[in-house]
Order: sequence, then C-alpha cells, then structure tokens
Amino acid sequence: MGDSKFVFLGYLLVCSVLQLVWSHGDHPLSKVSIHRASLSLLDLAHIKVSPPILGLQGQTAEWVTLEYSSPIPSIDDWIGVFSPSNFSASACPAENRRVYPPLLCSAPIKYQYANYSNPQYSATGKGILKLQLINQRSDFSFAMFSGGLSNPKVVAISNKISFANPNAPVYPRLAMGKLWNEMTVTWTSGYGINEADPLVQWGPKGGDHIHSPAGTLTFTKDSLCGAPARTVGWRDPGFIHTSYLKELWPNRIYEYKIGHRLNNGTYIWSQNYQFRAAPFPGQKSLQRVAIFGDMGKDEVDGSNEYNNFQRGSLNTTQQLIQDLENIDMVFHIGDISYANGYLSQWDQFTAQVEPIASAVPYMIASGSHERDWPGTGSFYENMDSGGECGVLAQIMFYVPASNRAKFWYPIDYGMFRFRIADTEHDWREGTEQYKFIEHCLASVDRQKQPWLIFLAHRVLGYSSCICYAEEGSFAEPMGRESLQKLWQKYKVDIAIYGHVHNYERTCPIYQNICTSEEKHHYKGTLNGTIHIVAGGAGASLSTFTSLKTKWSIFKDYDHGFVKLTAFDHSNLLFEYKKSRDGKVYDSFKISRDYRDILACTVDSCPRTTLAS
Ligand SMILES: *[C@@H]1O[C@H](CO)[C@@H](O)[C@H](O)[C@H]1NC(C)=O
Ligand SMILES: *[C@@H]1O[C@H](CO)[C@@H](O)[C@H](O)[C@H]1NC(C)=O
Ligand SMILES: *[C@@H]1O[C@H](CO)[C@@H](O)[C@H](O)[C@H]1NC(C)=O
Ligand SMILES: *[C@@H]1O[C@H](CO)[C@@H](O)[C@H](O)[C@H]1NC(C)=O
Ligand SMILES: *[C@@H]1O[C@H](CO)[C@@H](O)[C@H](O)[C@H]1NC(C)=O
Repeated sequence: MGDSKFVFLGYLLVCSVLQLVWSHGDHPLSKVSIHRASLSLLDLAHIKVSPPILGLQGQTAEWVTLEYSSPIPSIDDWIGVFSPSNFSASACPAENRRVYPPLLCSAPIKYQYANYSNPQYSATGKGILKLQLINQRSDFSFAMFSGGLSNPKVVAISNKISFANPNAPVYPRLAMGKLWNEMTVTWTSGYGINEADPLVQWGPKGGDHIHSPAGTLTFTKDSLCGAPARTVGWRDPGFIHTSYLKELWPNRIYEYKIGHRLNNGTYIWSQNYQFRAAPFPGQKSLQRVAIFGDMGKDEVDGSNEYNNFQRGSLNTTQQLIQDLENIDMVFHIGDISYANGYLSQWDQFTAQVEPIASAVPYMIASGSHERDWPGTGSFYENMDSGGECGVLAQIMFYVPASNRAKFWYPIDYGMFRFRIADTEHDWREGTEQYKFIEHCLASVDRQKQPWLIFLAHRVLGYSSCICYAEEGSFAEPMGRESLQKLWQKYKVDIAIYGHVHNYERTCPIYQNICTSEEKHHYKGTLNGTIHIVAGGAGASLSTFTSLKTKWSIFKDYDHGFVKLTAFDHSNLLFEYKKSRDGKVYDSFKISRDYRDILACTVDSCPRTTLAS
C-alpha cells in the first residue's frame, strides 16, 4: 500500500525531472537512455527520505533516513545525494583525466553504496541508510542507480527535502585582518545584495554589541578556468560575505553572530560564537599556533566523494577541536578542501572546520589543488585545481594579501612573524614575490618578534618524499636554491611546508649542511633554518625514499599536524602530534637570548663585519 503511494509520487517526480531536463536541454546526453531505463523500472523500485524539513531549530547539519528497494538489486547499486533536487542524471564524458566516475551531468554531492548498512541488500533488494546533510542553499533529492559508478542508470528518485531556511548565514570563518587588531569574519549565505544587508553583531563578552556591515562576493562559471569546475562540478556558490571587526583590544574575548537584515526589516541570525582577539605584536604572553597542510574533508556518515583521498581529515579536525582551548590560530598551508572543481565540496569543507574556524583565525595558503591550471599563469601547468584556478580559495577564505589572487602575506601575532608564501606563483630572484619575501623578512624587529616562521605549500626546503628523491632534488626544484640566501640572511627559525603527505623534520641546515648536531634542545644561535614537512593532515600518505640523508632527523608516515608554542621571547616549543590520538610523537625546544639572534653566522651579516 505504502509502496504504491511512493511509486505514484516517484512517477510524478520523474516526470517533472524529465520535463525540466527536456525543457532546459542542458546537455545533449541528458535526453536519452538513462531516463528511459528509470521509467521502465518505476513500478518496482523506490527510495524515500525523511524528515521532509531540516533545521527547524536552526541547525545547519542534520541526519536523514533513506529507505529504498529495488527489484533487481546488485552489489554495485548506489545512491547519489543531489542538490538542487532537479538534477540531470545523464552520464557525461570525462573532460579531464582527473575526473573519476560517477560521471553525471549534475555531480552528486556525495554517494553511498546501497549495501553500506545493509549487507543483505543484493539478496533482499531492501535497505535503510542514514546520511548527514548540511545546509547549502538548495533542496535535496536522492537517486538510486544501477550499473555501478561507471555506467550509472537511475532506477528511482526520492521525494525532495529542504532546510527550513536554505538561505541562512552559515559556516563563519575568522581570519586575521591586515592589522594585528582587526579580525575578519567570512561566511556563506543565499542572500544576494538586493535581498538583504549582511552584517555582524559583535562586541566584547558581556559588553555592548554593535552592528558592522559586510561585503558580498560571488562568481559565475566565467570566472572559472575549466572542467569539472565549469561543467559537471559547477554548483551555484551562493554569496560569500566578509566583515571587518576593527580596533580590537588585545587578548579580549569577543562575542559575535552573523546575520542579514531583510528588506522588510526582519533580521535572520546565526547562533552565537566567540573568539579571542590577537595579542599586540611583541607582547609577551602564551601564544600557540597549529600548522598543517593537505587536510581536505571527509564525510562523517561514511559516504563517498569522488576519490576518497582524504580519509585522515576527520581525525585531524577532531583533534584540533578537542585541543581548541590551547590553540590561538591555525594555518592550513594549501590543499584546503580538495574540491578539485566539484564546488559543493567547499560548503562541506567549511562546515567540517566550522568549530575551529569560527573560534580562531583560520589562515590559509594557496596549494596546487586550489590554483594550478594550464595556461592560467600558475607556476605549475598541471590540472590539480580541477578548473578552479584559485577562485574558490580566494573567495571562500579571507587572507590579508594586498591582492588575493597573489597569495602571499605576512602575519604578526604577538612574538611571532609568519611569512606565508605562494608556491603556485614564481618565487625566484627578481620576481614580485621574491621582493615581497625579502621585505617581509627584513622588516621584522626580532627583539619584539623573535620567532620568524616561513610557511609555504610545496616543499621549498628539504623532504625525503620519494617523489622528490627520485628527481635527486629532495625538494621542489629551484626552491632552496632561490631562497636559502634569504632564510639565512634574515635568520628564519623554522620553515614549514605541506604538499608531501607525511611528517619530517630536518636539523638546522644551510646549503645542505647541518649547522648543529643537537636534536631536541637548541640553545644559542641556530646558524641555520629547521625545515618541517607537515602535509599529513588528511590526504593519502606519501612514501619516503629509503635513501638516508644526514639532514633528516625524524620521519613519520602517518596523519598529523604541528604546533608551535611561544612561552616568551626566549623559549619556543615545537611539537608534532598524530591525528589518531593527539599525542606528541616528536618535539624540540629553542632557548636563546636576543643577542643570539643578533650574532653573525655564515652569510648572515655583511662580509665587512665578519672580516675583523
Ligand atoms: C557493497 O558494495 C561494494 C561496491 O560494489 C562492494 O565493494 C562491497 O564488497 C559490498 N559489501 C557487501 C557486504 O556486500
Ligand atoms: C533546476 O532548477 C534551477 C532553478 O529553478 C534551474 O536554474 C536549473 O537549470 C534546473 N536544473 C536542471 C538540471 O533542470
Ligand atoms: C519579512 O520577510 C520574510 C521573508 O520573506 C518573512 O518570513 C517575514 O515574515 C517578513 N516579516 C515581516 C515583518 O513582514
Ligand atoms: C583515525 O583514528 C582512529 C583512532 O582514533 C584510527 O583507528 C583510524 O585508523 C584513524 N583514521 C585514519 C584514516 O588514519
Ligand atoms: C654558530 O656559528 C657560530 C659562528 O660561525 C659558531 O661560533 C657557533 O658555535 C655556531 N653554533 C652552533 C650551535 O653550531
């Protein structure tokens, strides 16, 4: 009985989907066999989802239950999650060799095998599945497919469900502004500039709150560079808003919420959040920063995305959230979401990191998977960005760069100065970026900001990744050749990279020679820079070469992240933690006085002074 009702409902839905597909005629392939196949099976296959309305209490994520059955179950049947619900279920050719199945003209947000929580499915043809959905500005439908991933055929389409307010402001992410006492808040919504004014209500905890306006950005397919971002991976990005909270008092706790004032005067608000304002540059206080690269995202309900490449990212996210009281800022140094041109994944990523990014500044660097695309001015001419060519990273996250398309910038945070480089643009001597690096390193007052840290996505220093060892370079070619003079001259303490998905630490080193025999407690002058690979935050791990080098002190083939703790101007602690348990597996300390930084070492002072 219930079944016949669903069949009828399903029939209407498929008809309406068909009608939309016919009338829009989006793609030549969207008109043929797939829908004929689904129609022929209608009487016997069904899929139903509940509840019909999500987020009634303002939640931005909720679990739904799917019930389904098929008269011809097969082990490779799968269920795709689609948003908006009126997807086009036709198969499309792969335009890009990095695009994996399922190749549908509207890419599903995610998918799961019909047998996932129902091992008997291929015998009984019945199943129940629980999935988590996040609010991403559109309604949802679910489609059951036969034919596996590579030859998908729709056999049933579910009822549509939606969040109560799909336009709601969601996933706030903080970032340091251009000044040390400025915090920016960026979020996503479905409200354009003609529908509502975006704003932040904020103020010191327990004090008076004010409203600050926000700016709004969005983009169209024309801003993207290729497939799948411009084709099957395209999804309406909604609107991305940024507000600048200025003249903050150092270290004070602020409360805020993000919202929109509709044209009729009604306010739509998010939940309440809070953050601690940055310390004054040079200020002595406890300052703790977590750093990692290549995290990506994964689904808590176990469902799949295109290549399931970032299974480690949930553990890392979980450890950071658990330790959030002891973290003041986060750097995610490139390979942010691995959306690779499937735009929906940026919503999923910002939802996954929301507990972190809404509470501490979440600073990003540009990676190959954000920027690289042939013929678009990236330093590497590969297809890692899936056609995004930097646009998504530049809009979804704020960075205090003077031009957000050129992802290099400095951050002053108490006793730290961070210099974030953009390895997807040329850094060699004579380039705009090289000048910027030199200026940034040269202009720091080391008495006040003794801890000088260089961050970049690709390994410009040293790595035992088999990928680099095979080339014989043990780093990105032209990396340290171009930059080691600057690191040495300006006495950069630590350089940290991603790109290679593991952990490695070097001795303090200059021109391939260790400048100290010590391994755990560096006292006095370092005479070189310690290079760290911290790209193991989530993506599939990278193999080390079996070659032994003098400079490699510690290697770990696992997921993890690093943490820097500055206790004062003379004491810094470095820790490497595994994502699986949050415990410290490698660490070192630097203890020194200001005069140790001033002291001349090889190539760090003008030659005339060394001569005496
Ligand atoms: C479920 O389906 C997947 C994909 O076809 C298959 O790899 C897996 O072995 C199946 N599991 C069971 C319990 O049948
Ligand atoms: C789905 O609906 C939206 C909004 O009505 C429309 O812009 C889009 O073209 C439709 N997609 C398909 C595949 O019909
Ligand atoms: C204002 O508009 C919103 C959205 O259309 C509506 O939900 C709300 O009831 C309206 N408020 C008033 C006071 O008219
Ligand atoms: C995540 O951590 C758990 C232990 O907490 C571990 O069993 C699991 O293998 C980890 N996942 C990955 C992908 O490393
Ligand atoms: C660093 O270099 C200076 C001068 O070249 C030397 O005196 C000092 O011993 C070196 N420090 C270490 C830790 O090797």
